Amino acid sequence: MYVNTKDILEKASKEFYAVPAFNINNLEFLIAILEGAVEKNAPVIIETSEGAIKYAGNGNPIRGAKFFVNLVKGYADTLNIPVALHLDHGKNLEYIAAAIKAGYSSVMIDASHEPFEENLKITKEVVKWAHAAGVSVEAELGQLAGIEDNVSAEENVLVDPQQAKIFVEETGVDFLAPAIGTSHGAFKFKGEAKLDFERLEKVKKLTNIPLVLHGASSVPVKYVELAEKYGADLGGAKGVPAEEIKKCVKLGINKVNTDTDLRIAFLAGLRKNLTENVKEFDPRKYFKEGMQFVKDVVMDRLEFLGAAGKAI
Ligand code: G3H
Ligand code: 13P
Ligand code: ZN
Repeated sequence: MYVNTKDILEKASKEFYAVPAFNINNLEFLIAILEGAVEKNAPVIIETSEGAIKYAGNGNPIRGAKFFVNLVKGYADTLNIPVALHLDHGKNLEYIAAAIKAGYSSVMIDASHEPFEENLKITKEVVKWAHAAGVSVEAELGQLAGIEDNVSAEENVLVDPQQAKIFVEETGVDFLAPAIGTSHGAFKFKGEAKLDFERLEKVKKLTNIPLVLHGASSVPVKYVELAEKYGADLGGAKGVPAEEIKKCVKLGINKVNTDTDLRIAFLAGLRKNLTENVKEFDPRKYFKEGMQFVKDVVMDRLEFLGAAGKAI
């Protein structure tokens, strides 16, 4: 079934588990993710960035948003697991409006780069439009920075728990992404992962709504090594270990955003397949191993986040 993201996340928050939100840009990742979720009898969130919508719509946000709604809703309606479609990092109001109008389950308004008051004002406005259409809203506080930024300006970029309380009360936002030390992409930490668990705990206590962890890929060594064996160069890639994510789930994270891990798993399978089957030119065949690796990552995440078996 195609559902509102709020239904998935409020249940997760009450029962102390998290649901992964996987980024897609195409059909192959969607099939692999949904088949993994079916096998684990789990709820799942599919998300698309503005870049994904631009890509699928060939530059036209309305076409791209409609394309994803039809694709995800069409597939989800044949399944017995809850599936939601979310706009990830909505920054451009044109894309947010297109997603709401097309029938997304939820949207993120990411005005985290703006000063607090401006973020609050923009978020409040988006909540008004989205709620009027029955669409739930995620916002972000603090900023996800690169490793260099974090070293020099850690206190400035991480979320302020007292501000989070005010922000949630005043905007009426449904879920909040607090910056606690993760970053996007395949190169998150130079040494050990360093997340601010205390800060996360405070934010949950003060807001008591579902919380979202961005930049949550673990960058599995297995797929990095396989991709490199077949010619990729991912030197220095490092993610957030599963144990650290599990600690975050205990402290109140209910949505775990994952893009990079799927990209690397697919890349490993694709490179391996193309190298080993030089005569193959049917994409349904040479995509297959990458899709299987994506499905394996999906099932592993559903399991360790506690979402497996939570479809009903
Ligand atoms: O958080 C960002 C996601 O990984 C999407 O990235 O803008 O390259 O689609 P993208
Ligand atoms: P990763 O780059 O760690 O997969 O993070 C994805 C993300 O936060 C999407 O919003
Ligand atoms: Zn993100």
